[in-house]
Amino acid sequence: MAKESKITSENFISKGSIQETMLGPLWARATYSKLYPELLNDEKAIEIIEKVDHNFLEAKEFLTGKNEFRLFGLLVRAKKFENALLKYMENYPYTTVVNLGAGLDTTFFRVDNGKIKWYDLDLSNAIEFRNQLIPEGPRNKCISKSVLDFSWFDDIEWSRKNGIFFIAGGFVYYFKQEDLKELFNNIMLKFPGAEIIFDAISKLALRKFNQLAKKAGKGESVYFSVKNPENLFPLWSEKIEVVDWFPLWTRTEINPTWNNRTKKMIKLMRRLNTSKIVQLRFSK
Ligand SMILES: C[S@@+](CC[C@H](N)C(=O)[O-])C[C@H]1O[C@@H](n2cnc3c(N)ncnc32)[C@H](O)[C@@H]1O
Repeated sequence: MAKESKITSENFISKGSIQETMLGPLWARATYSKLYPELLNDEKAIEIIEKVDHNFLEAKEFLTGKNEFRLFGLLVRAKKFENALLKYMENYPYTTVVNLGAGLDTTFFRVDNGKIKWYDLDLSNAIEFRNQLIPEGPRNKCISKSVLDFSWFDDIEWSRKNGIFFIAGGFVYYFKQEDLKELFNNIMLKFPGAEIIFDAISKLALRKFNQLAKKAGKGESVYFSVKNPENLFPLWSEKIEVVDWFPLWTRTEINPTWNNRTKKMIKLMRRLNTSKIVQLRFSK
């Protein structure tokens, strides 16, 4: 595609802003699902990245550093969310799904059964950019609001009977614990019975991430970490139940053909429990 017909990220997203973090996961999913479809098959990401005018080299450098295990992690995260959602949809085929901090996420296109209702929520310029690349459809809408502006609750059409599921990839660690607690407790009150899946990181990973961001001259910082979700979220409310949680790499087979450094890092990350997938239910 000619450069002039592409959408320039800098017209919407300023360099070093938190919104810029949406570009790395898109790049990873598009590039690596071509190479490793066994990890994730994201045709929509492959399609839309063609339309983006952005220097992805920086994201690549930030995500890969000396090796590519972080990129693999982004695909594994997306696949785990996809699996959890498809499982939920077996019981709730007409569910509402709310994607918090959606960025350029393309999960809707991988799971759509023609019945679900989907909302992608992000900050306003992030949604403006997203709309250029992924137009809304009759069942997938965008919400341009901060997740901490709870007026978005009223923008969601849902019912207890049909269910409601939240996904939040690469998101919770950008918030202070008290803000996250307030968000979860309010979701619990407004959407009783809802489930949410997200990834979270350890204190060690948090420190490493902030060091890397500082080195790369990036403004964003991460704040929230959790070691064992069972020992944290149920303390926020007795109505928060941990449905499932596991260190990111524990349920993914290591392919012997992956490069040795990647395999070594994955084994180390498994042991250190640096990154995990957490699924919660806000009971009725
Ligand atoms: C690392 S990106 C992840 C994007 C997407 N979930 C994915 O996995 O590809 C984090 C996203 O969170 C969004 N974000 C950060 N703070 C937010 C807030 N207060 N409200 C809504 N979105 C926010 C950013 O704009 C960005 O799109």
